[in-house]
Amino acid sequence: MSVVALVPAAGRGERLGYGMPKALVPVNGVPLLTRAVRGLFESGHVQHVVIAAPPSDVDQVHTATASLAPAGGAVHVLSGGAQRSDSVRLALEHALRVIPDTSIVLVHDAARAFTPPEVIAGVVAAVRDGFDAVVPVLPVADTIKQVDEAGVVVSTPDRAGLRVVQTPQGFRAETLKAAYSSGIAATDDAGLVEKNGVAVHTVPGHPHAMKITTPFDLAVAAALFSGGQR
Ligand code: CTP
Ligand code: MG
Repeated sequence: MSVVALVPAAGRGERLGYGMPKALVPVNGVPLLTRAVRGLFESGHVQHVVIAAPPSDVDQVHTATASLAPAGGAVHVLSGGAQRSDSVRLALEHALRVIPDTSIVLVHDAARAFTPPEVIAGVVAAVRDGFDAVVPVLPVADTIKQVDEAGVVVSTPDRAGLRVVQTPQGFRAETLKAAYSSGIAATDDAGLVEKNGVAVHTVPGHPHAMKITTPFDLAVAAALFSGGQR
């Protein structure tokens, strides 16, 4: 019964604008992808990591991450797809093909490189407890407005019922497989599962699980983790 983490890392990082795929960008000397994979294994619950790497960097990623796996586990690297969902689909197919006892699948963005291992452990524990799909979330600090095409406010949803969603998102392997076989499109994996009629459970996320998207985010991460922490 293996827990397998799929790590979509094939994006170009255009909003970051660092001149290389975002997953390979270093923060205080350590690339985001290395940090993300390290965190997954440090949770103590992940045996296999399947990385969807930038197509031009598959060999480099393999060399940089192979030694991070614990005894009995492994890092698998393949070439990612055009969209994030393509990368996840390719990684999922690979996992189901080569890791036959895959029971729980996590999907974790390389861009959320600083996610505390405790959050990862919490997601796995909730799937083990019987939930088909689990996402880490945070409360929403800002008031959110829904606007129309002209930018005019249409409504103000009650903030108390809103959450920001992070990764890793955790699934029973069969649940995620069925969702990706359905042909439905969604912006994230839990959204896809949700559209397939599966209830998605939430567990506490963490501010450090923020997604590195812009130069501002990178600067925040560099300042927060300057002391050698994750
Ligand atoms: N991703 C992927 N394959 C793609 C696109 C994205 O594996 N074709 C991954 C990214 O590497 C990232 C995660 O999905 O870890 C979330 O995507 P995002 O934050 O949008 O990263 P990028 O696509 O790299 O950034 P941008 O959209 O600014 O180019
Ligand atoms: Mg993107």
